[in-house]
Amino acid sequence: MKVLVIGGGAREHALCRSLSLDPDVSALYCAPGNAGIAEVAELRPVDALDGAAVAALAVELGAGLVVVGPEAPLVAGVADAVRAAGIPVFGPSAEAARLEGSKAFAKDVMAAAGVPTARSYVCTTAEEVDAALDAFGAPYVVKDDGLAAGKGVVVTEDRAVARDHALACDRVVIEEYLDGPEVSLFAITDGVTVLPLQPAQDFKRALDGDQGPNTGGMGAYSPLPWADPKLVDEVMELVLQPTVDELRHRGTPFSGLLYAGLAITSRGTRVIEFNARFGDPETQVVLARLRTPLAGVLLNAANGTLNTLPALNWSDDAAVTVVIASHNYPGTPRTGDPIEGLGEVAAEDAPDAYVLHAGTRREGDAVVSAGGRVLSVTATGSDLAQAREKAYKAVGRIKLDGSQHRTDIAAKAAEGR
Ligand code: AMP
Ligand code: GLY
Repeated sequence: MKVLVIGGGAREHALCRSLSLDPDVSALYCAPGNAGIAEVAELRPVDALDGAAVAALAVELGAGLVVVGPEAPLVAGVADAVRAAGIPVFGPSAEAARLEGSKAFAKDVMAAAGVPTARSYVCTTAEEVDAALDAFGAPYVVKDDGLAAGKGVVVTEDRAVARDHALACDRVVIEEYLDGPEVSLFAITDGVTVLPLQPAQDFKRALDGDQGPNTGGMGAYSPLPWADPKLVDEVMELVLQPTVDELRHRGTPFSGLLYAGLAITSRGTRVIEFNARFGDPETQVVLARLRTPLAGVLLNAANGTLNTLPALNWSDDAAVTVVIASHNYPGTPRTGDPIEGLGEVAAEDAPDAYVLHAGTRREGDAVVSAGGRVLSVTATGSDLAQAREKAYKAVGRIKLDGSQHRTDIAAKAAEGR
């Protein structure tokens, strides 16, 4: 099978890495890709937001499966265009991707499906904003209704900061603060059958100790030794299956990857957000542990035949990924800086540790930074402590001027806290 992956971040590098190891994949293409993906897939230039262009590329390549990585193309209807060209596609329709594209829509679906989430108000005027902020009190949680690459959410004790953020957006969701650790649980679905993957934890804040602004994600690990072993079953029953059923009953079945961002609160598990695609950087650690060849899983979801798939096979290893970000990320990042040490990691640390590229491009013989999150250094080990040690050893070999990374990814979990 020929597979075309759309996107060019570390999530797509992780997807391409797994697909390139799958014996059923005869040719692998990625558009537009990045410097790291180029080592496992043939890159093609494309405007990932242009459904007609993506569909035409898939036809030209004779692709038997298209995998759409990021949310923006999904919300723009790229999966619909590929499906209309008669090619199986892993990724939801634009209608179903509203689950991520509009926080207000997601709240409406959750209310209809009885899915536990934070109480919330949708606000468009200053009066509504003030009333909602006062109704919940501090800490305030204010979310831009639309897509914002993980940066549209402000959580703050400061009412003025919360109010300013709300007034800077056209439409916001203001909601109750949820206390407790966060879990990302991904499920692959064809719109009927739901297949949960292994849970992971993401580190959203820029700085150690969960300080600093929200980012797209600075690191992740899996498994979660502290989590209740019944968590996945519980989330399947209370969140994932009811949400998939609700969207199907609305006539907009969701097929692809349903990502539940969860808070494990003292009053029970609550949904913080849904995403309509694999999470980044959690995908890097979840796929590092998946033994079942990936292409068949995604193809069965695309074709509506997930119920025929045998149970997934997981490695007992732990996986940790540490994101190396550009100077000034999550603000406007500095790009174009040369990256050194990639060869050293490949020579010294593989196969247990490897570098997945996020924002990189090739300039002559050099690989240079090309985005906010630049690399996702991933490692596996017999437990989290070992995976962490290997990941940070590899991080230590990478030289990127002005770069930043967190030093505490998976630290608490590895210590049994
Ligand atoms: P989201 O884009 O909705 O995932 O929000 C980004 C991050 O903001 C989440 O991962 C949480 O850390 C935080 N956050 C979002 N909603 C809440 C909430 N209701 N209570 C506490 N923290 C939240
Ligand atoms: N890791 C957060 C996200 O993918 O949205």
